[in-house]
Amino acid sequence: MREKELRELLADMSLEEKIGQMVQVVGGLFAEDATITGPMQEMGFTQELMGQVGSVLGTFGADTVKEIQRKYMEKQPHHIPLLFMLDVINGFRTVFPIPLGQGATFEPELSEKCAQAAAKESAASGVHVTFAPMTDLVRDARWGRVMESTGEDPYLNSLFCAAMVRGFQGDDLSAKGNIAACVKHFAGYGGATAGRDYNTVELSDHTLREFYLPSYKAGIDAGAALVMTSFNTLGGIPSTGNKYLMRDVLRDEFEFDGVLISDWAAIEEMIYHGYCADGREAAKRAAAAGVDIDMMTGCYAKNLCALVRDGEIPEEAVDEAVYRILELKNRLGLFEHPYKDADGELEREVILCDAHRRLAREAAVKSFVLLKNEGALPLEKDRKTAFIGPYTDNRNLMGSWSIIGKPEDVGTLREAVAERFGAGVQADGGSRYGRGALGQERFASDAQAEGQDALADGTISFHAGSPVLGNSMKVEGFLGSAEEPCSDAEAEAMLAEAVAAAKEAEQVVLALGEHYLQSGEAKSSGIISLPEIQLRLFREVCAVNDNVTVVLFSGRPLDLREISQKAKAILEVWWPGTEGAAAIADVLYGASSPSGKLPMSFPYCVGQAPVHYNEYSTGRPHHPGADKDFFRSRYLDIPNKPLYPFGYGLTYTSFSVSPVKLDRGEMTRDGQITARVTVKNTGSRPGTETIQLYLHDIAASVVRPVRELKGFRKVELQPGEEREIGFTITDKELVFLTENGRWESEAGEFEVFIGSDSMTENAARFRLL
Ligand code: NOJ
Repeated sequence: MREKELRELLADMSLEEKIGQMVQVVGGLFAEDATITGPMQEMGFTQELMGQVGSVLGTFGADTVKEIQRKYMEKQPHHIPLLFMLDVINGFRTVFPIPLGQGATFEPELSEKCAQAAAKESAASGVHVTFAPMTDLVRDARWGRVMESTGEDPYLNSLFCAAMVRGFQGDDLSAKGNIAACVKHFAGYGGATAGRDYNTVELSDHTLREFYLPSYKAGIDAGAALVMTSFNTLGGIPSTGNKYLMRDVLRDEFEFDGVLISDWAAIEEMIYHGYCADGREAAKRAAAAGVDIDMMTGCYAKNLCALVRDGEIPEEAVDEAVYRILELKNRLGLFEHPYKDADGELEREVILCDAHRRLAREAAVKSFVLLKNEGALPLEKDRKTAFIGPYTDNRNLMGSWSIIGKPEDVGTLREAVAERFGAGVQADGGSRYGRGALGQERFASDAQAEGQDALADGTISFHAGSPVLGNSMKVEGFLGSAEEPCSDAEAEAMLAEAVAAAKEAEQVVLALGEHYLQSGEAKSSGIISLPEIQLRLFREVCAVNDNVTVVLFSGRPLDLREISQKAKAILEVWWPGTEGAAAIADVLYGASSPSGKLPMSFPYCVGQAPVHYNEYSTGRPHHPGADKDFFRSRYLDIPNKPLYPFGYGLTYTSFSVSPVKLDRGEMTRDGQITARVTVKNTGSRPGTETIQLYLHDIAASVVRPVRELKGFRKVELQPGEEREIGFTITDKELVFLTENGRWESEAGEFEVFIGSDSMTENAARFRLL
């Protein structure tokens, strides 16, 4: 439809019809047997409104979507199609690593491909819009939603957010396989006080703008079609009614002209925040802030008409919002093709297809972070090996947002190891879970032959060791509570069997982790250690075997003090997705080498939270071992530094990085400096290193972070091979929000750090004239 026709359509719509477009409900209300009664009716969701709502969420499946669309359009006065929205976070049915794991790849292009694959699957299933990417900057491991973010760094988050937007949307929203992206949660949601979800956010405007806003902006600049408001208050005002944030910053400064949707019930929640007296005021405040769609409350449905008729909201404001919604429908091509890609046959073709599974395996391998390795990895395949732990035989490897992914699509670690050694291969040459084509050829056939013996003669054995959670723990999840029925006696027997196997083994792989519903929305945690029952298993196994590798599943940084002391190796695998187990087997046995780097610091313990590498220097900085006095910014009982910092991650080889060389010592604002290092693979295996560039503005009109990531490069090197890496530094890397409130650079001295993680001391200095 052309703009003129869209405008004519809008002009022809009644006020009620227009307001219908601004309301979103769950697709379940369109079900054949759905009757709108009781609370739904009280919320303002009448049968009449259902014939006019503009969008639904949470419904997918080509046939279901087509049926709802067909019936709806027959009744809708102007035959305007519905928009179908869904949380397609780290994949649709093929599940990729959680976003925090994707951040660890330091490879935004890979996330672009994952988003593209997820778009293809969900589009075939009738989805038009995903509520992703989530790009909230995160610093506090207590907050369960850190798993949905790509981490603590504004630069890295910006690259990932833009890449994901491009991946979901492609160049043309109406083209096959593309869906609209929604950057969320605007703004600052990751700053929840004390890591408690939905809690107050207190950020200075400076911190908000310097750290939190850039990645939303990057997503908007990449063309994101929607933005979602956040649940939190900012400066005492709920984001959803925050005119400064939504009008001045989002619309005027960032020039966002797409659709602004509230988060679930966030308009009504302004009442519970104590910001609005009732639904009418909440609707008024949200509309005034420019929120186009009310997700799942009756505030707009019940009050907007009256607000317009009483002159409290100008009809132009409604027109503005509705036009944006119609425009989105038009960009998706829904007026011409209301079912867009929804197609049962296409669903069967693309969902869990080999290409997507291969991508999931690659992304999982690249997301793993090797936190420690004292010669335990890769595993020696001839050694007697015990795989122990509740994640040895577990299919829940997808994280809490995997609402479409199914455990039965996911292989277990036991299956992956068996398959690696040939035991999972069926007589016809295919394999379970359709992974026959997935890199089996990479596994040497002699490994398979030996492995078959190894599995048959018990060289490799598998033991649960413990349930994920003890009987005393219970996790309330989206999908109900996750209790594991297991008597104390059964748990003791599991433990005894595992310890006996560990005693016999030459190497132990302990697959431990959080419960997958312990991180995610509303999953804040005051304790960020492994569940006690698993720590006991860990201790008892370590007591009888000193060659223990921990494979760690988690959606957040954990307190690894004890694990890091006793384990020989630690491989953080996050929630790795559909192909996670196969990827773990690849890495454990050295078919692939780990290459991930932490996108979020792992605190020494929870008392450090929030902790992040890009902190400001204090007036009394602490230099461990070198302080002349006692009155320093530090703890009495724990170090300041996280246990594993941002950017950190090992691999199976080692690298040296030469001192930083600058091609000049001074630069002008329109000039540039090249900083170079030579990276050498000093070990005996090929490997990938991510070389990181950090800058520090030594003195400025506003205190600068002690260092800030400004670039990185992944290099793959053979043993003995070396390569020179150059980073170009221009004014763009030096600007910050100065005391003038402008993004500009200031003359003076800068430090350049180049190395393997955010703590590198490999530095040089230059001056900006
Ligand atoms: C609430 C969450 O905060 C948001 O991220 C999500 O997209 C919506 N629910 C819709 O499911």
